[in-house]
Amino acid sequence: MNELIATLRAGKSVFVLTGSGISAESGLPTFRGVGGLWRTHRVEELASPEGFARDPVLVWTWYNERRGAHERAQPNAGHFAMAQLEDVLDDFTLATQNVDSLHLRAGSRNVLELHGSLRQARCTHCSAGRSLGTAGLPLDEIDHACGGRWRPDIVWFGESLPQDVWQRAREAAARADVILVVGTSAVVYPAAALATNYNRRAFVAEINPEATPISNRVACALRGSAAQVLPRIVAALSSGETASPDLFVRPCG
Ligand code: OAD
Repeated sequence: MNELIATLRAGKSVFVLTGSGISAESGLPTFRGVGGLWRTHRVEELASPEGFARDPVLVWTWYNERRGAHERAQPNAGHFAMAQLEDVLDDFTLATQNVDSLHLRAGSRNVLELHGSLRQARCTHCSAGRSLGTAGLPLDEIDHACGGRWRPDIVWFGESLPQDVWQRAREAAARADVILVVGTSAVVYPAAALATNYNRRAFVAEINPEATPISNRVACALRGSAAQVLPRIVAALSSGETASPDLFVRPCG
């Protein structure tokens, strides 16, 4: 961890990639872990254009429930630590795969929502946008006046990421001195590529209680939870001291 702190202190540019694990301690389920959403729900029914075309009421019922859960959840110490890190750095970009808005609610500003946001709906035909309240979209309003349907403004399987967001994320990853990969299984592409594929020079640290396919390619794997590890990194950075090793953190290097 000390090597990470030293590199962060010397570095000018930091890029962060987060996944659902950073929101786990806010009470929101991940996708692939124990109790994960894709263990109990069918991806193709709920997260694909074909599933939506087949049964938009089922899809909206599920996303409305998730939207409500996101609103009831509170950002945790990991989200707040990311906002604090941004405050002390000149060039900080956070790309998240999450659609829960918790980074924004924690005060992060330069946030790229790679997979969109559940705060918004978009028309399948005319691409008009509409903000969603905490209850999501009323089920009797799925049809849009133009002949299309309102759908969640998020990225489903088989769909491309929003091009402007993707471009900015790639650029930020490429120029970073330090890349933090937090709470993601790093198996969903293209987002996972941001961790290691666009920058061979950066010091890459993974914060995750479990190993992932990129663990053996990063400089440093911190085996702890986001809400435990991230505040320690920020505290060590701002205190000017070195971080003490502890039970949760396997030292880097
Ligand atoms: P996954 O469920 O695939 O992975 C969650 C990761 O978080 C795992 O590696 C866990 O070990 C880790 N984790 C769990 N608790 C944690 C904690 N407290 N602190 C840190 N890490 C923790 O979720 P994602 O990687 O986010 O896409 O999944 C990527 C994409 O797949 C999602 O954006 C979603 C999904 O299908 C779309 O819906 C398009």
